[in-house]
Order: sequence, then structure tokens, then C-alpha cells
Amino acid sequence: MGVGGCLALPWRCLVVLCLRLLFLVPAGVPVRSGDATFPKAMDNVTVRQGESATLRCTVDERVTRVAWLNRSTILYAGNDKWSIDNRVVILSNTKTQYSIKIHNVDIYDEGPYTCSVQTDNHPKTSRVHLIVQVPPQIVNISSDITVNEGSSVTLMCLAFGRPEPTVTWRHLSGKVRQTFVSEDEYLEITGITREQSGEYECSAVNDVAVPDVRKVKVTVNYPPYISNAKNTGASVGQKGILQCEASAVPVAEFQWFKEDTRLANGLEGVRIESKGRLSTLTFFNVSEKDYGNYTCVATNQLGNTNASIILYGPGAVHDGGNAASRVAAGLCLWATLLARLLLDF
Ligand SMILES: *[C@@H]1O[C@H](CO)[C@@H](O)[C@H](O)[C@H]1NC(C)=O
Ligand SMILES: *[C@@H]1O[C@H](CO)[C@@H](O)[C@H](O)[C@H]1NC(C)=O
Ligand SMILES: *[C@@H]1O[C@H](CO)[C@@H](O)[C@H](O)[C@H]1NC(C)=O
Ligand SMILES: *[C@@H]1O[C@H](CO)[C@@H](O)[C@H](O)[C@H]1NC(C)=O
Ligand SMILES: *[C@@H]1O[C@H](CO)[C@@H](O)[C@H](O)[C@H]1NC(C)=O
Ligand SMILES: *[C@@H]1O[C@H](CO)[C@@H](O)[C@H](O)[C@H]1NC(C)=O
Repeated sequence: MGVGGCLALPWRCLVVLCLRLLFLVPAGVPVRSGDATFPKAMDNVTVRQGESATLRCTVDERVTRVAWLNRSTILYAGNDKWSIDNRVVILSNTKTQYSIKIHNVDIYDEGPYTCSVQTDNHPKTSRVHLIVQVPPQIVNISSDITVNEGSSVTLMCLAFGRPEPTVTWRHLSGKVRQTFVSEDEYLEITGITREQSGEYECSAVNDVAVPDVRKVKVTVNYPPYISNAKNTGASVGQKGILQCEASAVPVAEFQWFKEDTRLANGLEGVRIESKGRLSTLTFFNVSEKDYGNYTCVATNQLGNTNASIILYGPGAVHDGGNAASRVAAGLCLWATLLARLLLDF
């Protein structure tokens, strides 16, 4: 509050003065700028690592000696430099101000600095805290990892910054992108499922600069599971295609059998093509002997599974005991029940 403020509101100045007398009389206690007593230092100084900090101390002509101290070490006494640190320079030593500057501030510079003055043989000090901020930075994070389904996984994300950053984990491949899976440096997943595979993002956040964000890929291995294997009809002389679809991590390898005989490329008239999760068995020119029961086997390092697929001719109702035959059985049951009801009637 300036003099103008005091003229306008004298009672407020009185209250402020009383409060200051109550709390700030002991020497060495931080003195806020605008205080009536000398020396006057500024409020705490906050700078980012690498920037420069200016420490100002307001004095008057009664002052006979001045010095800036870092803890109990003298940096400057008057115009004499005591510090051997070439980052520390004097900015001004006038009748009204005594200031120094610290270039390229680092975290170990953080702490209390003292402006010490002597007025009429009375030493007085004022203290200012230099606060050094550091943008968030992830310093160590788990590498991409591959695990088997059901095992436990711990992801780690260690971050540095000042103030200390908050660390959170998100599952990016998850359906809800915003869901935090952990609000901690460690993310623990016990009994991991295939749905929990994908990318995990660690963010380190403080209010100094933009968050630091890194990703970790978690691959979950699981044995093959055949999701699609449909019986297929084809007429003699035409093309016939059997398809087998399996999901697995790592990707499954496929084999085709007819009864106990393994089919292979190069055998007359057939071609096997496997790409990703799909394998197809193609008959270029279907003949009677091709009809029958085929087995598709999907294998990866965690196991194998198989499914039967029938290649049938026109007129044949082959559904491998599946939907159509179940519908037929159901209809039959109904017919029987209906017949009995009618008889009972
Ligand atoms: C202040 O003191 C600390 C602790 O002794 C030291 O590490 C740092 O370099 C000093 N900073 C300056 C600017 O003198
Ligand atoms: C200056 O910083 C110190 C240490 O962080 C703190 O205790 C003090 O309250 C701060 N003073 C002001 C005026 O912000
Ligand atoms: C990261 O943390 C791991 C586990 O604590 C440790 O083995 C590794 O040495 C650390 N890496 C770095 C670069 O600090
Ligand atoms: C398919 O096979 C039959 C009998 O082997 C043969 O007569 C016919 O020409 C073949 N068709 C084609 C398109 O190769
Ligand atoms: C298909 O799976 C069954 C049951 O797991 C197994 O007994 C059979 O040997 C498998 N058949 C082939 C051809 O791998
Ligand atoms: C096809 O063969 C498999 C085993 O080889 C058998 O379990 C299945 O019942 C057969 N399907 C038909 C319709 O014969």
C-alpha cells in the first residue's frame, strides 16, 4: 500500500502497521516489500531451472554496509565479490537498491538468501527464498512388455520435477480413453486379460510446463481360439473355399487335415493360404472325392485348438450338428408335442 493509499484510508494503514509490529518485529524474519523497516527485500523469487534470478534489496542513504548471503556464506559484500561462483554477479549498488543476479539457476541454488545491512551501527537482515521450478520429466519408465494371459504385470513410471509431478496411467486401447487405471507411479495388473493388452500412457504433470507423456506397449499372449469355421457347399467342377478364423497372440499357424491326412500346398487342386487370423483352403475344381470332413488346427506357442469344417455337395444338409439340425430337432419336438395334445383332446 503506497502513501496515497494511506491518505485515503488512514485506519487501514494503522491496522496493517499494528499487524506488522506484532508479527514482524524480530530481525531476520522475512520482510515483505513495502515494509517501512529496512532492509527491504522482495517476496520470494520463483524461477525455472536454467533461468536467471534477481535478488533485490531496497536500502536508503543511512545504510553504511550491505551484503547478500546464501545461507551463511557471503556472496557479495558491497561491491566485493566473495563468491567464487561466476554465475553470481552484482546488478546494482546504489543509495536505494542493492541487487545481485544469479545466472543459470539450478536446483541446488534453492533456499534462503539474506540481505544484510548496517544502519547507524545496527545490523538488520531480510530473507528471501529462491524457489526453483523444474518442468515434469519422466526419468525411468518400463519397457514394452509381452506376458502370457493370467500373469501379473507391474508398470513403472518415475518422474522428476519441482514441484513434484503427479503421475497417472491410462489405458489407451481401452474403450474409454479417459479412464485412469492408476494415479500412481506404479500400475499393477494381476491376472491380466487379453482385453487389457495395448498401449498404456504415463503422464507426469506439474504446473510449471506441459506434461511429459510416454507410452508403454503391453502384449498379452493367449492360445488360439477358433472364432469362425463354417461348413461350405460347392458343386462338382466349381471352386470350393473353406475358411477358418482364429484369434491368438502371437498369431496362430494353421494346418488342415482330412481325416488323418495333412493337406499341403502343391497337392493337386488345392491351395492353403493363411494370413493373420484367417486361413483358407481352396479347391480349384471340386470333385466328389473332395466332399467330407476337414479339420483346421490353429497353433501358437501357448497351445492349439481345432475345428471341423465340412465341404458338402448340392442337396446335402451338412451343418456339422449345428444350427440347422438343432432347428430341425426343435421342430420335431414341437410336432410331437402338438400331435400328443391333439390326441389327448
Ligand atoms: C547456495 O548454497 C548452496 C549450498 O551450499 C550451493 O549449493 C549453491 O551453489 C549456492 N548458490 C549460490 C548462487 O551461491
Ligand atoms: C517464502 O518461502 C518460504 C519457504 O518456501 C516460505 O516458508 C515462506 O512462507 C515464503 N514467504 C512468502 C512471503 O511467500
Ligand atoms: C530404471 O529402473 C529400473 C528398475 O528399478 C532399473 O533397473 C534401471 O537401472 C533404471 N534405469 C535408469 C536409466 O535409471
Ligand atoms: C475339373 O475336373 C474335371 C474332372 O477331372 C474336368 O473334366 C474339368 O475339365 C475340370 N475343370 C476345370 C475348369 O479345370
Ligand atoms: C482336436 O482337438 C481335440 C480336443 O482338443 C483333440 O483330441 C484332437 O486330437 C485334435 N485334433 C487334431 C487333428 O489336432
Ligand atoms: C468330423 O470329424 C470330427 C473329428 O475328426 C468329428 O468330431 C466330427 O463329428 C465329424 N463331423 C461330422 C459331421 O462327421
